[in-house]
Formats: sequence, C-alpha cells, structure tokens
Amino acid sequence: MAVRKKKFKLKPEAIELLKKVGIVFGILLAIFIFYRHNINELKKLGYSEKASNTILFKFKKSYVMDIGKNKTLNAAFESKDYDEKNLDHYSKIKYQNHKHLIRNINKLLKKKYDNKGISLILAHGSDEDVTEFIKHKKITYLEEFFTVDYAKIKNYDRYVKYSDESGEDEETVVLAINLDMDKENYKEPVKIKKYNKYALVTKHRQLMKSYKPKLVKISTKYASDNKQQSTKEAYDAFVKMSKGAEKEGYGIIINSSYRSFEDQQDVCDTYQKLYGTSYVDKYVAHAGYSEHQTGLAYDIGSKKNKVFSTSKEYKWMRNNAYKYGFIQRYPKGYEDITGFRAEPWHYRYVGKKIAKYIYQNNMTYEEYYMRFLDK
Ligand code: DAL
Ligand code: ZN
Repeated sequence: MAVRKKKFKLKPEAIELLKKVGIVFGILLAIFIFYRHNINELKKLGYSEKASNTILFKFKKSYVMDIGKNKTLNAAFESKDYDEKNLDHYSKIKYQNHKHLIRNINKLLKKKYDNKGISLILAHGSDEDVTEFIKHKKITYLEEFFTVDYAKIKNYDRYVKYSDESGEDEETVVLAINLDMDKENYKEPVKIKKYNKYALVTKHRQLMKSYKPKLVKISTKYASDNKQQSTKEAYDAFVKMSKGAEKEGYGIIINSSYRSFEDQQDVCDTYQKLYGTSYVDKYVAHAGYSEHQTGLAYDIGSKKNKVFSTSKEYKWMRNNAYKYGFIQRYPKGYEDITGFRAEPWHYRYVGKKIAKYIYQNNMTYEEYYMRFLDK
C-alpha cells in the first residue's frame, strides 16, 4: 500500500520573510566585502589594521591613497590623540618611534613650530625628552645645534651657555656638553652598571661595582709579570697583535692590564704621594673611572726600548694596532676631549670595525661613542 508523503510547504508569509532576510544578509555581505577590500588596499599600502579602520571611518581613504605609505600618518590614525586640523602636518613630519608621538606633535604645532622644526626636535630626543622640551619656551633657531646629528634636545640650554662662554663652534659645543665637560670632574657622573665591551669611561662616566668583566689570566709570554688579567676577547686580539708585531721584528708587552677599583685606588694614592694632585689629574684616573677596570685596556711597552714613546714598537703600534681592534685611547692633541695628557702606551680594545674607523678618521673614542654608540 502506497504511503502518501506529507509535503512540507512553507506558508507564503514565511517565504516573504526569508526573502527579506536573504536580501538584508546579501547587502550586509556586500558591505563587508567592500569594507574588507578597502582595508586590504590600505594595508597593502603599509597602514596597520587599526589605522586603516580609522581612515575608513573618517572618510580619509582617498587622502591617504594620494600620500601613499607614511609612518607618521599611520601613527596619527592609530592614535587617540589624532587631531583632524593637524592632518596635513602629520605626513610631513619625520616619524620617530615614540609612545606619545602624535600628542607631542600636536603640542609642538600649538607652540608654532613648523614641520621641519618638529622633525628636528623629535629626532634629537626620546619620548620623555620631547615631552619635557615642550615646556621650554619656543626656540627660534633650532638649526644652531640640531643639525649636529648627535645633539640632544635635553641639553639645549647647556649648549647655549657653553657656546656663549667658550665661543666654540657648534659641533665642538655639542660634543663637550654630551660628554658633560661643563660639569666638575668626577661629580654627577653617568653610571655604567653592566659590563659592556663598548663602555666609554671618562672623568664623567663611572664604572659601578656591578660592572664585572669576566677575566682570564695573561701568560707571562705576553706580560711583564704573572699578575696580569684581561677579558678574553681583548687578550685574544692582543696575542694576534703581538704575533703580528713579532713577524715584522717588533716586540710588544703588556705592563698593566685589568685593575680592580682597589688596584686603581692604590695607583692613585701612589702617584698622589710621589708627584701630587696635578700629576694625578693629568695622568691617573680616580678609582671607579679608569678604563683599566674594564679589562679591555692595556699599558703597552717595548721589549727593546724602555721609553715606549721613542721606540720602534710605538711607531708600529700607531700604524697597526687598529688592524687588531685596538685604539690609542689618549692621543696627543686631544687632551681637551679625553681629559688626560697624551699616553702613547695606553691602548683600548674596541674591535676591528670601530678601531679602523677611528684610525682612518683621526678621532677620539669620545667622539666616536657620541656619534654612533650613545643611544
Ligand atoms: N692612565 C689612565 C688614564 C688611567 O689611569 O686609567
Ligand atoms: Zn693605562
């Protein structure tokens, strides 16, 4: 017997409703596809998802597409500090990776700095430095110091003062102030806390107790006694240098290498007793302020001539030490920068790349450090 299937049939009203739902869904899908298409276009151009969303929401897509990839504009559209009236400025100001970049740009624009001036300010300070700088009364001639790459906005007032007092050129002023040369020696130093092979140690830059180089013993083959120690990297480089010198008929030896804080204090006390304060000021660093405490510096002697500065070895060192990663740390003619009289015997390991640059450009480690390493 055939069973009659009961046919499932929707009521006309339900069909009507489904149609409407379908149309609405279709429209929403189309809008979503259109929206994603626009977002993808902006992302392809280099804008983040967050910035792209804001750009669409604010109807700025064609504006952004005309400009193209722009990091500052991207940051502006990502930021809660975005201000429509500053839109034309954002893309013309050079981007910096600062947390409050857009807030600070808005404030600097309010102070009537132009785009070029703001780019200079941002490039010469951290986020905190810029935030602080905004409190400073407007500077009319920013180019005076800030065309020097390593000028710092936080030092602006000190640059002006030192420049007025010394009459030196801008680059000299920036270098001197960045090195804290307007401060009293051994007062308010920069504190170097962790071992760092590039540490710049001066009368204004102190090695803290926590600065602990890993040391190895130096063989008496390379040193004048059996008490010398050094970091391994500097020692390995010295061994190579010594062998290189020997091949060419020269004999170099380490007279003094790593010194602890206490060792340096002893050196200081000894010379103080022997020759007095003015000698110490010129030739001996106070304990805590000696490069010898890094394990990267050596006082080098000649195996053949007691007076190193007149030896053939000194001449050889001057022309060849850089090939092994060493620089003469206190050269003649740079006493004002290094703070010490010329020391022909004192060499510092900085690695081959830096040593070569310093050798070829005839500069001090102070200058190199301020230009390239002082972040
Ligand atoms: N003679 C150098 C400056 C020192 O004492 O470290
Ligand atoms: Zn020395």
